[in-house]
Amino acid sequence: MVKLTDDERAMLDGRDGAAVQKAMDLLVRYAEALGAEDFVYTNNVAGVPGSSPQWVKEYYAADGGDYRAVFSRFDLDSDEVVDIPRMNAFSCHLQGGMDPVMWKEQGMTPAAFANFSSDEAETAAHGVQVLKTCTPYLAGNVPVMGEHCAWMESSAVVFCNSVVGGRTNCEGRESTSAAMLANRIPNFGFHRDEFRKGQHTVRVDVPVDSIFEWGMLGYFTGAAVEDSIPVLDGQISQPSLIRHKHFGAAAASSGGVEMYHMVGITPEARDAETAFGGKARGETFAYGAKERQAIYERLNSIGSSTDVDYVMLGCPHYSVEQIAEAARLIEGRRVAADCELWIFTSRAVKATAEASGYSEILKRAGAKLMTDTCSAISQAVPKGTRVAAFDSAKQVHYLPAMMGIEGWYGTTAECIDAACTGKWNGVLQ
Ligand code: F3S
Repeated sequence: MVKLTDDERAMLDGRDGAAVQKAMDLLVRYAEALGAEDFVYTNNVAGVPGSSPQWVKEYYAADGGDYRAVFSRFDLDSDEVVDIPRMNAFSCHLQGGMDPVMWKEQGMTPAAFANFSSDEAETAAHGVQVLKTCTPYLAGNVPVMGEHCAWMESSAVVFCNSVVGGRTNCEGRESTSAAMLANRIPNFGFHRDEFRKGQHTVRVDVPVDSIFEWGMLGYFTGAAVEDSIPVLDGQISQPSLIRHKHFGAAAASSGGVEMYHMVGITPEARDAETAFGGKARGETFAYGAKERQAIYERLNSIGSSTDVDYVMLGCPHYSVEQIAEAARLIEGRRVAADCELWIFTSRAVKATAEASGYSEILKRAGAKLMTDTCSAISQAVPKGTRVAAFDSAKQVHYLPAMMGIEGWYGTTAECIDAACTGKWNGVLQ
């Protein structure tokens, strides 16, 4: 049985209203299913509270078919529909289903956009920050070391645990929505010291010095360790934030990595001893020239035609540094007539890209800078797409399979070149 504090007991007894009572009830059931003994306090929650496509609202038509109905019945798993107050925890909305401006280009209908806008107004009215990104840490929500969070989105979760030393499990919609109301999440998994220790070693024997290389190493790591915690050692030197971003997203895609250590680099891995915390060291997986070649081939195994009609960048959502790089690479060139280049980021980063002149360069070249979503989440690709190219191991893992298209993986420069020529010329150097 999960132990409740007096405050938690009072919430469960309805002191703070029906919605908080339902949230606490859901969290107690969740904690008991996990075997958690108690809760941690959280004031940093990232989820998709109450947002839903129209068909979900129609499913709850008998309950009113609105935000309130979806939040009560779906998010809180409640038998009755209750009023939803402003959230109590600092909460942000992760990525959503379409771009707020270029939704028509994404093939969305006016009705779907009206539903999106209405959900967004509800999100803001309920005190949730409208970050609309899978990279909240680039848009105003950076956890600190040891902070208990409740986050969804695998690429954000692995970043939170590994890079900044925040603490979160890979939560779901229901648990995050409940945590926004109750400021609690079960004290389980990555919230506890003993679950944050390394389990296997990934020994890096080749230099890893670009986003492209970090993406491949991440993809290798996830495939090797699956859902355990890898400790990376060997030829790695301080990766930048965006390299961590691509490494973690790839490791969470090919495996289920939710936390990693890099010896001498990440905050809970001062040395290998600390990273493993005295636990058994599991297997060692070597990443050398042979493995690097094999991963490259695997990531490019769903490409056969070199006629590229879509290039998608921004998975996870591009940082301003990456947008600057894309603008530098494309300045003076143009996206080919039979190709499209869509770049995804958050609204916050787009605002900076606009102020810095990068958006204008991209626009002049025929590229589209979109926010809030991505092709995988919105299942939106340019009409007629058959062959796509990506600089993200995560996106090449998902999108071709989801949309039944071919896909190539390469460097950002190769992707920009493909967008401007309509041809894939990627090679492993
Ligand atoms: Fe983000 Fe979409 Fe990739 S939501 S992590 S850009 S799959």
